[in-house]
Amino acid sequence: MPGSTRLEPRLLAVAQEVTGPVHADIGADHARLPRYLLEKGQVKRVIVVEKHPGPYANAQRALAGLPAEVRLGDGLSALRPGEVHSLSLSGMGARLILRILQGHPTRLPPRLVLQPNDSAEPLRRWALQAGFALVREQMVEGFWRYNVLTLEKGHCTAYEGLPLELALAFGPLLLRQKHPLLRAELAAQLERLRRLPRVERVQREQARVEAALAWLEASTP
Ligand SMILES: C[S@@+](CC[C@H](N)C(=O)[O-])C[C@H]1O[C@@H](n2cnc3c(N)ncnc32)[C@H](O)[C@@H]1O
Repeated sequence: MPGSTRLEPRLLAVAQEVTGPVHADIGADHARLPRYLLEKGQVKRVIVVEKHPGPYANAQRALAGLPAEVRLGDGLSALRPGEVHSLSLSGMGARLILRILQGHPTRLPPRLVLQPNDSAEPLRRWALQAGFALVREQMVEGFWRYNVLTLEKGHCTAYEGLPLELALAFGPLLLRQKHPLLRAELAAQLERLRRLPRVERVQREQARVEAALAWLEASTP
């Protein structure tokens, strides 16, 4: 099968975490990610769930002739328990991703790859209480800086020895790695916050960002 589909960096980062062999992509729209995974032979079969008729038609067109099934439905309601081994949700706000994950907890597969377009903090908080371990975190440069979280069912050790609130906010594995993009992102956030009116919420957020930058500084040999 010719591998003609090219992915932007954020979707490439998601793709590299998908294991399958049967994978679900929820909210696929043009289905570039599932098409790429099938072309590469990285997964055997894909189930796409789309909520809206336009993107559903886009996905059907993109995946015609491939071992894929496109279902019109709302999030995990369109999947049966145990039907897939891994699942991805990308290019959406974290709150929408969270709503989809919380909608049908018994239908979640053991491996999840999540790429929110905004802060990943709500997803880290959810994973911790839902019994998913954070096994990998990526930060990728694109239109914005994106987080890609890889989660596996099981006990999470990612936060051990770290200040929990800071790690939930900015990423335990990114902090541990001293990820260069994390530093750049924190500096950009600080710059933006310093220009805002000094209301309590802004001051609180600024204190968190400064604490994370100080943690990175202090733990750099
Ligand atoms: C911005 S697109 C992202 C497309 C692709 N995942 C990406 O990363 O480029 C979000 C898609 O999610 C779909 N969507 C939103 N809520 C959904 C839900 N509850 N269930 C399934 N699809 C949903 C929308 O129809 C839309 O096509």
